Amino acid sequence: MQPFQRRNDMILQETWRTGHPTRIHRLSRSTASVTDTPLLVANRTHMTFTIAIDGPAAAGKGTVGRRLAARFGYAHLDTGLLYRATGRRMLEGLDAVEAARSLRRTDLDAPGLRTPEVGQAASRVAAIPDVRQALIDFQRAFASRSGGAVLDGRDIGTVICPEAEVKLYVTATDEVRAGRRHSELVAAGEDITYDEVLQDLRQRDARDSARAAAPLKPAGDAVVLDTSQLTIEQAVAAAIAQVLRVQGG
Ligand code: CDP
Repeated sequence: MQPFQRRNDMILQETWRTGHPTRIHRLSRSTASVTDTPLLVANRTHMTFTIAIDGPAAAGKGTVGRRLAARFGYAHLDTGLLYRATGRRMLEGLDAVEAARSLRRTDLDAPGLRTPEVGQAASRVAAIPDVRQALIDFQRAFASRSGGAVLDGRDIGTVICPEAEVKLYVTATDEVRAGRRHSELVAAGEDITYDEVLQDLRQRDARDSARAAAPLKPAGDAVVLDTSQLTIEQAVAAAIAQVLRVQGG
């Protein structure tokens, strides 16, 4: 068994503990209402609810994902970090597939994962089918955790969680995305121009969309959320409204 898979549960638990605000909805039989049917009790003891968020680079998936997770008390996984950590290890000289198979929780906290250089490396390793394969089990296990989960990436609604209850495809124009990412990077101390950011996003989007393995595209049943003209608050409100629509049946 591969080290990453063997340690899935540990990584997952740590992600829950150290990640964004989470609350585990786990009702024991004793706390369930007496009117609950056995089926309802069973559902509640292992309540899963998956929100899949996909979209091109810097579209706001992470922000929307984190805010949804906080709002509903779900766990959040930024799956881009898995590819960024793998890409970073490849830049250090490791074989990409080996790097993905031996990923550790601590690799996701490595400094510099958000830089364009690592983003490009992530996009290159992400086109390798064996790299994607090595990361599937962890993502699916996360998605099916009791208590609800939000995952953001490129293939969550199409490949990782095709049964997700909510699927969002978050997008925005190239220029808006580049402007937002440029501000983030400058705030983080990166010396980079707007044009360089725009070129980086376009290159990655083209590679991510054209690859044969799990290409970037909206799932057929995804709700498209174009945030070009929206503030963060408006985008988050629209995403919350969609989740509530689904939950309201
Ligand atoms: O934050 P940003 O949208 O710029 O990128 P990211 O989500 O951190 O993803 C970095 C790269 O990882 C992407 O350009 C994709 O190539 C790859 N990726 C992927 O292939 N599948 C995912 N589920 C997530 C990321």
